[in-house]
Amino acid sequence: MFIGIDLGTSSIKMILIDYEQNILATSNTSLTVQVSRDGYSEQNPEEWINATNKCLDALREKKPKEFSETISIGISGHMHGATLIDHSGNLIRPCILWNDTRSHQECLEFEKQNFDVRSISGNITMPGFTAPKINWIKKNELENFNKIFKVLLPKDYLRFYLTGEYYSEMSDASGTLWLDIKERKWSDKLLSCSFLDLKHMPQLVEGNDKAGILKKSIKNKFKFNHDITVVGGAGDNAAAAAGMGITKENQSFISLGTSGVFFTPTQNFLNNTSDAVHSFCHCLPDKWHLMSVMLSASNCLDWVCSITNTSIKDTLKNVENYFHDEKSIINSSYFLPYLSGERTPHNNPHIRGSFHSLKTITDATNLQYAVIEGVSFGILDGVNSILKVNNKFEDIFMVGGGSKSTFWIQLLSNLLNRNLKVCDQSEFGAALGVARLAMYQDPWIKNTEKIIKEIKVTDTYKPNTNKIDLLLKRYDIWKDLYKTNSQIADKLNL
Ligand code: XUL
Repeated sequence: MFIGIDLGTSSIKMILIDYEQNILATSNTSLTVQVSRDGYSEQNPEEWINATNKCLDALREKKPKEFSETISIGISGHMHGATLIDHSGNLIRPCILWNDTRSHQECLEFEKQNFDVRSISGNITMPGFTAPKINWIKKNELENFNKIFKVLLPKDYLRFYLTGEYYSEMSDASGTLWLDIKERKWSDKLLSCSFLDLKHMPQLVEGNDKAGILKKSIKNKFKFNHDITVVGGAGDNAAAAAGMGITKENQSFISLGTSGVFFTPTQNFLNNTSDAVHSFCHCLPDKWHLMSVMLSASNCLDWVCSITNTSIKDTLKNVENYFHDEKSIINSSYFLPYLSGERTPHNNPHIRGSFHSLKTITDATNLQYAVIEGVSFGILDGVNSILKVNNKFEDIFMVGGGSKSTFWIQLLSNLLNRNLKVCDQSEFGAALGVARLAMYQDPWIKNTEKIIKEIKVTDTYKPNTNKIDLLLKRYDIWKDLYKTNSQIADKLNL
């Protein structure tokens, strides 16, 4: 048996699978995010530990016998978070998360070096990434900076709790900006831009390599029978890719979660920093991937549902009906989905969300439509940015909460002019991905080539031309709205 743990932004999800990768049990515990002011986003890592223990308990209750036979565990997590540990292994402060944009000034400073930072890091220095967060801490919380013994990514802090060991792996480490992406190793030069060196970093492995053994105390607490190996695991997007079997250049996926992601593997290092495309290592050796990230995707849907006091289900139904009437769409308002700034393609931490072209006839349903349309345009922007350097992907898998809406998937399929595939269990995709990585450490599995395989497709959405000319015209206007808004964006945040 194998366990996959996925530390998501809003919850921890866990999965127990057998040798045939049947899902025997799942569990889920919510997490909170602390937003003390605009642009800030933090989490208390103690919550991750409590939620992990609760999820392990729940798995054990559901399948006690199988659970006790666990051989290995994989961990995935939301990327980029800076979790700081002192010499005694204690947390120094709350974790600053991937969608926190406070360190925009430090990004500029990080890149002011006598060498080309991007040629090693493969990426633009964006505030969501780990490195500028440390530079912000040095500038604003020197006492905390001076206590740093290790900087860990969220899932690697969870590993530290489970194993007492300091490890990370290539896919998640790619999002720190301290990794030499091409060479798959920490870069002394990049670390020095954050006033750190190798000793502050965990040891690096590949996602399917051994990276610690479960502590005896935890083994006994949960009554496991064997000494359990913990593998490197993966950042949440690479983990979701492994869960769907996406490791080849012709494959790709869109995740409509809190963030909106388009992900496609590459066989070597490629990048496009001018459109803020993420160029990261994949979670298997000798594989890389390109990724576009919008910071607020289904987050925008949650937000509009809460301000219009409508459930997500009703909103999606209203919007679907609304879409039938061409006149409504022609008159519809527009929405820029930048509630907490944007990464791909703008790299703009100052931009914020906005509605445009509000009229006396604009009602709640129209605002809801504009939000779904605006997020979809954001995804199209991301796919177009990647197309500039790589056009090898064909069909696209859909994952994340937003992928449950048939209307939304069809709209995206039309806009992208691609087949979109839907599969079961997508909610646990990242957890399944790392449970699969864990299988590589079972000596009984001789043919590891077969572990990561494409997941069963339950439905394929084919593009149609329903209102496509109108939508593409609206997309052009929407892009212009960004251009004009971006000119005053930094004046709006006083
Ligand atoms: C990727 C990113 C997000 C987080 C949260 O660069 O920031 O996808 O991993 O899911």
